[in-house]
Amino acid sequence: MAISEWIPAVRVEDVPEGEGFQVDINGALVAVWNVRGEFYATSDVCSHEETPLTAGDLWDNVIECPLHGAQFDVTTGEVLSLPAIFPIPTYPVKVEDGTIYVGWRVED
Ligand code: FES
Repeated sequence: MAISEWIPAVRVEDVPEGEGFQVDINGALVAVWNVRGEFYATSDVCSHEETPLTAGDLWDNVIECPLHGAQFDVTTGEVLSLPAIFPIPTYPVKVEDGTIYVGWRVED
């Protein structure tokens, strides 16, 4: 059965507004984003050809992949432009005592 656990991912001060931070969670590359002071987490792997999205530029809530320019909404994972056609996974986030936690599903 799948259960959720909160993984301490990164300190708040390490993710400035308008930027993303890559973390490795159980071997998966996850991006933590700061959009106007709110934190979001997505996969850090572009759904087109698996480029790290944190190497791209974030404008407000839109990340542009540095390789071919696909855009995604980091608050929903929705794909906004070609050449990507699939969304990216998103994960729940919470902040406690200055640490950003990412909600993770683990298998028993
Ligand atoms: S690898 Fe991201 S748009 Fe192609």
